[in-house]
Amino acid sequence: MKVGGKNYRTIWLRDDEPGVVQIIDQRRLPFVFSVVDLRTADDAVVAIRDMYVRGAGLIGATAAYGIYLAALEARKHQSPLAIIRQAADRLIGTRPTAVNLRWAVERMLQTLELLPDSADMAAHTLAEASAIADEDAACSLSIGRHGLEIIRRISARKKGERVNVLTHCNAGWLGFIDHGTATAPVYLAHEAGIDVHVWVDETRPRNQGARLTAWELKEQGLPHTVIPDNTGGHLMQHGMVDLVIVGTDRTTRTGDVANKIGTYLKALAAHDNGVPFYVALPSSTIDWNIRDGIRDIVIEQRSPEEVRFVEGWLEGSEHRVLVMPESSPVANYGFDVTPARLITGLITERGVCEASEQGLLSLFPEFAR
Ligand code: MRU
Repeated sequence: MKVGGKNYRTIWLRDDEPGVVQIIDQRRLPFVFSVVDLRTADDAVVAIRDMYVRGAGLIGATAAYGIYLAALEARKHQSPLAIIRQAADRLIGTRPTAVNLRWAVERMLQTLELLPDSADMAAHTLAEASAIADEDAACSLSIGRHGLEIIRRISARKKGERVNVLTHCNAGWLGFIDHGTATAPVYLAHEAGIDVHVWVDETRPRNQGARLTAWELKEQGLPHTVIPDNTGGHLMQHGMVDLVIVGTDRTTRTGDVANKIGTYLKALAAHDNGVPFYVALPSSTIDWNIRDGIRDIVIEQRSPEEVRFVEGWLEGSEHRVLVMPESSPVANYGFDVTPARLITGLITERGVCEASEQGLLSLFPEFAR
């Protein structure tokens, strides 16, 4: 997608040094666009843990490139696979909720396990990490095409009048490799000349909506409005939202969805107001081993500092300000689970299906058992 008119992905190899992976430091957006070098697997660990990168797909791809960096480091060691496995454990431990993280690391390890002893591990891990990134980008585009048909139908029903989409957090290209998931249908609708506008939940505590989604929509010239998190219900009651599209960090085989905290409340409001509520996801975010999202998904708890302080920009530099009594206790759950019954449909790379085991298996029959 575009930044200042130039095309970027969210992760790539440095042109002049292919042993270095580059990412955008999302902690500084929208105020500063800065590119950071990852030279070691531990750089990748820090980038994921401290949220230089975030979002389901990009976390997975960063972990995959982290294994490539570990393979480069392991070259100098007697037992390279042991070094890579240790890095894999450190990477998996960074963010518990995003299922792509474990999926990507396990896929990288399987590649290595199949190699003969003499094989160049770094070359193979690079090829696999690049394949993960390319597949993620291709998935987003397919999700965009399927979701576009939903927006097209609403636009036709409204006789070309503006289609208003509400989204939560950032499931845009910054959370994946390109196009994003929740945003992909919107980007494609905009390109197709459909009048589309996005209500962007600011998404406390880290404000991924206000900071990241608004920034990427602005960079693509897409009409949007940032709203405080509590506004969606009111807009829906007044017919100002035609559909909700959100992303997901983990989806059960029965169609329950874990996404950024606050998503469930939007689903409840949408249900009460008859507003269609869609979740856009690449199949790599489906955890086929679990059935009950509320019981089985471990929800990451993040630092209380994210709630106590708000970060912003003042006179050319970043500042953190306290917004509550410093000694008051804080609960900071990163995600919540929206039960399948509140979801109108899942938009996947293979098409749109009902949020249910039957619906998912109709598109992914290879996971039937
Ligand atoms: O910023 P994170 O990694 O804590 O949040 C995850 C997300 O970006 C979302 O929950 C998103 O809506 C789905 S994954 C891109």
